[in-house]
Amino acid sequence: MTALVLDQAMRPGAVDAKTSTRPAAAAAQLAGRIAARDATVAVVGLGHVGLPLALAAAQAGFRIVGLDTDRGKVACVAAGRSPLNHVEPKVLQSLVAEGRLMAATDPGCLAEAEIVLICVPTPLGRDGTPDLGHVRAAVGTAARVMRPGGLLVLESTTWPGTTRQVVAPLLEARGWRIGEHVFLGYSPEREDPGNARFRTADIPKLVAGADDASRQLALALYGAIVARVVPVETLEIAEAAKLAENVFRAVNIALANELKLGFAAMGLDAWQVIEAAATKPFGYMPFWPGPGPGGHCIPVDPVYLAWAARAHGVAMPLLDASIAVNAAAPEHVAARVEQALGGLAARRVLLLGLGYKRNIADVRDSPALVLIEAMEARGATVGFHDPLVPEIPHTPEHPALAGRPGLAWEAAMLAGWDAALIVTDHDGVDYAALRAHVPLVVDTRNTYARRGLDASGVLGA
Ligand SMILES: NC(=O)c1ccc[n+]([C@@H]2O[C@H](COP(=O)([O-])OP(=O)(O)OC[C@H]3O[C@@H](n4cnc5c(N)ncnc54)[C@H](O)[C@@H]3O)[C@@H](O)[C@H]2O)c1
Repeated sequence: MTALVLDQAMRPGAVDAKTSTRPAAAAAQLAGRIAARDATVAVVGLGHVGLPLALAAAQAGFRIVGLDTDRGKVACVAAGRSPLNHVEPKVLQSLVAEGRLMAATDPGCLAEAEIVLICVPTPLGRDGTPDLGHVRAAVGTAARVMRPGGLLVLESTTWPGTTRQVVAPLLEARGWRIGEHVFLGYSPEREDPGNARFRTADIPKLVAGADDASRQLALALYGAIVARVVPVETLEIAEAAKLAENVFRAVNIALANELKLGFAAMGLDAWQVIEAAATKPFGYMPFWPGPGPGGHCIPVDPVYLAWAARAHGVAMPLLDASIAVNAAAPEHVAARVEQALGGLAARRVLLLGLGYKRNIADVRDSPALVLIEAMEARGATVGFHDPLVPEIPHTPEHPALAGRPGLAWEAAMLAGWDAALIVTDHDGVDYAALRAHVPLVVDTRNTYARRGLDASGVLGA
């Protein structure tokens, strides 16, 4: 491994991109600035991953510049307000007030940073394959503006090989050699939005580098921010590990959704079965059925991995099956409501919970949006209430729903519905009143049993 010797004489920007003969000095200089918390860290993408990471890095003592293309989000952060309902505004506010966290839409802000962390989305394109457009754009911008001698780390979830095959060439296009003029790492985020038990700084972080110097610098950086860093031998292992974590969840959620249908046909309640099975102290981990997974990760990551495997000539039929089972989950719920009402034509259905996850406002890939369209396609009128989502934001998959307002919670709002469908069981909803006022409640989350409420007349789905 490259020894990192602090060279105080070298200042930022002192490495000559074309002729540098002092790569070890460049690494040593940056290591020194990291150790002294003197380095400025740019976080590109102030979303569900980038914003908590920016806060954690700022709390560790680094000065942070956040770059995002979303003007609304940047204005919000710059004003000390949190654009995400689960990210506490208090810490954000004081970091902004102290000048330790800044937000901008101007890529020029990256020139101030020695370290750039890329936290942009990695969605699927229209053809259902990985779309690295945001990664390419963000790294391209960073490569143009960054100073030599800096460290760039990709955090976005992606297929194994992305950092070396897609990110590195964008940096090399500037005439830089990785590990000499610029340092490159991959460290997947393990953010679990809304999880109060594990915050960014508490979650062990996998860290890999394109070369030893890059890895050492990335380890030093994250070692200053999180409680535990886990060095990983190659970029590809770290990229694959993140996918392995998420496809594990996707496959097990699909299994729970399949068990739900199989057990229901046998007259058994899947939640009770899984709760019973979960008392086994080893070799079992409970996953719960639902209306289908949502968010940026679980519906997307298995597709990234299956796509990458196919590119290497290998099929992953278990992943393909789990993608199909999870994608079909909302349709089973719609059919359950339809069957319970004896048809959906001219029926009025109140949908509860638009966000894909309890107490989270994120509606990306939310099964709720699929369900609204599926039930309306069968002639139903669908209204929704979500204490966290007052209006449906634009999503590429459901553009027609954008701007539709939700219903405010009040006693009068509960009148006149044929059925209520609980898609996500946020707190702050009076589920007992819902059951008392709406003739039929269909519950995809085992809400009543979980909260110890009277579930008589409530249908599982
Ligand atoms: N959401 C999660 O719980 C989670 C957890 C772990 C990993 N991830 C991964 O992290 C990555 C980011 O996900 P997210 O949920 O934070 O997405 P997000 O949409 O919440 O945030 C991404 C941000 O990047 C911005 N952005 C897009 N292109 C940009 C560009 N070229 N320059 C500057 N900003 C740009 C967007 O405006 C947005 O604010 C994805 O790869 C995702 O798979 C997400």
